[in-house]
Amino acid sequence: MIRTTNTTAACLLALMLAGCSDVNDYKPTAGMTATDIFAEACSSCHGDGGSGKFGFLLKIAGTEAAAKEVAEKILHGGHIMPAFPNIDEQDAERLATYLKAQ
Ligand code: HEC
Repeated sequence: MIRTTNTTAACLLALMLAGCSDVNDYKPTAGMTATDIFAEACSSCHGDGGSGKFGFLLKIAGTEAAAKEVAEKILHGGHIMPAFPNIDEQDAERLATYLKAQ
């Protein structure tokens, strides 16, 4: 697991410099709706339907971001948000569509 070690080392280094997002290995099962995926993988941070936590914090419902940007965010994460490498592009775009409709 040399790769993992390297990644961990890189993360620790990045953490000292700028903060490092984690990786979440959540994997949706086939046939899940975007609603279910969001409830399982995202709502713990973003609230039900992306409505936010503690008021407006982390609200992403009705996002103006393009589906591609949302998909990028899911795949790569952010400064704090973990990356979800096991959510494929198709599911990510369905999540983006779902969020816009909230
Ligand atoms: C551990 C908490 C956490 C989880 C779980 C999480 N997010 Fe996030 N998300 C954040 C944080 C914190 C930010 C803003 C800062 C950053 O980029 O790290 C963010 C930002 C975003 C943004 C960008 C919002 C903007 O205005 O630019 C989108 C889109 C997003 N998340 C979608 C999702 C989706 C979809 C999921 C589920 C697959 C998810 N998030 C799961 C914490 C989380």
